[in-house]
Amino acid sequence: MPKVTFIAADGGVRTVDAPVGHSVMEAAIDNGVPGIDGDCGGNCACATCHVHVDAAWLAFTGSRSDMEESMLDFAEGLAPDSRLACQIDLSDALDGLIVRTPVSQH
Ligand code: FES
Repeated sequence: MPKVTFIAADGGVRTVDAPVGHSVMEAAIDNGVPGIDGDCGGNCACATCHVHVDAAWLAFTGSRSDMEESMLDFAEGLAPDSRLACQIDLSDALDGLIVRTPVSQH
């Protein structure tokens, strides 16, 4: 199973295992990772799963869809590395993925 590391704004680090096909948001929710609420259940409709993808992983997480782009307009602290965690599906290629949760979600 791919491992995902979540780094909180306060420096707290959590590494979790999640099945291939689950989203990064689901990996966080299933493991009680703080800072990711996933209020809309992964439907790209709330932006409470906003994360910053580590620079080393940006090339592997794909690009934002138009819908994701629109929803991210509502996210605080929007940056070029911003993604919605529910829109990143885990694969073996993402084993070791590192994301940071925004300060506004703590
Ligand atoms: Fe709502 Fe990701 S869980 S946009």
